[in-house]
Amino acid sequence: MTTSQAAPVLRMSDVTRLYATKQGGLHVLAGVSLEVCQGEFVTIIGPSGSGKSTLLNIAAGIEEPNTGQVALFGADGAPLAKRLGQVAYMPQRDLLLPWRTALDNATLGLELQSVSRAQARQRATPLLDTFGLSGFATELPQNLSGGMRQRVAFLRTVLAGKGLMLLDEPFGALDALTRADMHAWLLSLWQGLGRTALMVTHDVEEALLLSHKVYLLTASPGRVRHVLPVPLPWPRTPAMVATPEFVQLKANLLHYLRTPAMAL
Ligand SMILES: Nc1ncnc2c1ncn2[C@@H]1O[C@H](COP(=O)(O)OP(=O)(O)OP(=O)(O)O)[C@@H](O)[C@H]1O
Ligand SMILES: [Mg+2]
Repeated sequence: MTTSQAAPVLRMSDVTRLYATKQGGLHVLAGVSLEVCQGEFVTIIGPSGSGKSTLLNIAAGIEEPNTGQVALFGADGAPLAKRLGQVAYMPQRDLLLPWRTALDNATLGLELQSVSRAQARQRATPLLDTFGLSGFATELPQNLSGGMRQRVAFLRTVLAGKGLMLLDEPFGALDALTRADMHAWLLSLWQGLGRTALMVTHDVEEALLLSHKVYLLTASPGRVRHVLPVPLPWPRTPAMVATPEFVQLKANLLHYLRTPAMAL
């Protein structure tokens, strides 16, 4: 998979973010630095309110940091002039368009890239089954469960085909079995295509199974508390969660999550 020479796709250096509130300034991110390289799957774990979604918004170019630098890099290794529109972003809320069917919501990213609707549907249709959506292609979002809506949004993000995918709790609303199916599917996609991702999750096993490295954020204001490399071999399979190496990594990560930052 990746090597230490892999080129960076996203680099954040010392990023801070403050929001103006009636009570004064709300300090959300306090000097966060992180790097995602070509072909890497990187995960962020942190308490609610630690600024994880804010961090993805900044990476996507929807928001700017108050201080610090953020850069996306193209395939040639040169920094891109702007971030907006350069990544595939699955926000925490599914943001499906209520008037478009499941299939036509899934194809939205392709259509925004000027792919015709007919062609976009042709590319999306074979994936409906894998995403647990066959039989629901012509349904409107209001007729889908929360988990289904999340899978439509995930399919839209995967189909958008950008080099970097930003995923904000993509499996959060899925039941355990569907979640395990999606992990198995995502691992096979990853190992086949070598895509790059930055994902937010609260699920420790999911983070370890899918990732090359895990960034742990402190409670608000978010700072990087620890970066845990995941030296499990590739290709990965869901069965690895039962191996002694995995169990040890999980114990390490849980230790960091359960110990107050001051005590470490
Ligand atoms: N546009 C905004 N204006 C003011 N405050 C905001 C804004 N966006 C986010 N916040 C605040 O910033 C803090 C961090 O929010 P953020 O959504 O990034 O956290 P999070 O780590 O993703 O949390 P969760 O795990 O619950 O999704 C929260 O206190 C939130 O209320
Ligand atoms: Mg969030």
